[in-house]
Amino acid sequence: MDLYCVMGNPVEHSRSPRIHARFAELCAQQIDYGRRLIPLGAFAEGIAAFRREAAERGDSARGCNITVPFKFEAAALAQHTSERALLAQAVNTLRFEADGSIHADNTDGIGLVNDIVRNAGVPLAGKELLLIGAGGAAAGVLGPLLDAGASRIVVANRTVDKAVAVVRRHAALALGHGAVLEAWALDEVPGSFDVVVNATASSLEGDAVPVSAKVLRPGALAVDMMYGPAAAGFMAWAEAHGAVPRDGLGMLVEQAAESFEIWRGVRPPSAQVLGELRASLA
Ligand code: ATR
Repeated sequence: MDLYCVMGNPVEHSRSPRIHARFAELCAQQIDYGRRLIPLGAFAEGIAAFRREAAERGDSARGCNITVPFKFEAAALAQHTSERALLAQAVNTLRFEADGSIHADNTDGIGLVNDIVRNAGVPLAGKELLLIGAGGAAAGVLGPLLDAGASRIVVANRTVDKAVAVVRRHAALALGHGAVLEAWALDEVPGSFDVVVNATASSLEGDAVPVSAKVLRPGALAVDMMYGPAAAGFMAWAEAHGAVPRDGLGMLVEQAAESFEIWRGVRPPSAQVLGELRASLA
């Protein structure tokens, strides 16, 4: 059996095992996808143990997803790292190759883009976009948002220096796409936007949405990268100010779909699985 898992700390609430099991079922793929709690400071040992234990049982560890807090150290174990993971400085997908080497990738950004464009039906080409936050979650999606053709992206963060650093790192990509890319403080964001993406942890801390509602154009799409109760405050704020709210459940399923394709070479029916997941959570 080909084995996969999600590794993190904590990891017990991850929905990835369920999503990948459904993908496998719908695509007739024989895989087993579990979850492994990795002690802090023991990520490399966790990967080695997963591969070793699989081999001892006559199975084959073929890859894993990486979640908090290990996304930043996963690249160090890999022999090949994708361009988008290098730019994000974070990895959420590892593929264990037949020759024993490891390929590292990051599917979070393309997951967000596919959810916005395909599931929400909002094309990003030529759009003006506000990305709130400049931590790992924001850095993971900025490159794919530029690749999707946004004409202007403003990165706004409480700590402006972090926004400036993320913008600098993506300056060449923005230039290549002819896009305008700017860094601003949260309370100084200039203008309004077609799409607003919340990549901060502010709602987890019970804080209000950290930008003025003036950033929302009428009918703007307002996406929180979180889902469930953690996204509720941002979604209510968006709706109250005439925007179309969207949580991060679609991004979750779409990043999983991209990982599944990297591993299995088959595109799973992600929209169907998103619909099923939403219905089961309602
Ligand atoms: P993640 O991997 O989820 O992005 P992170 O790297 O710790 O986590 O980044 C958290 C992001 O949420 C940062 O942009 C952070 O702003 P700072 O860089 O100024 O710390 C933002 N954030 C967290 N709490 C916030 C709050 N109460 N108000 C505004 N922004 C907040």
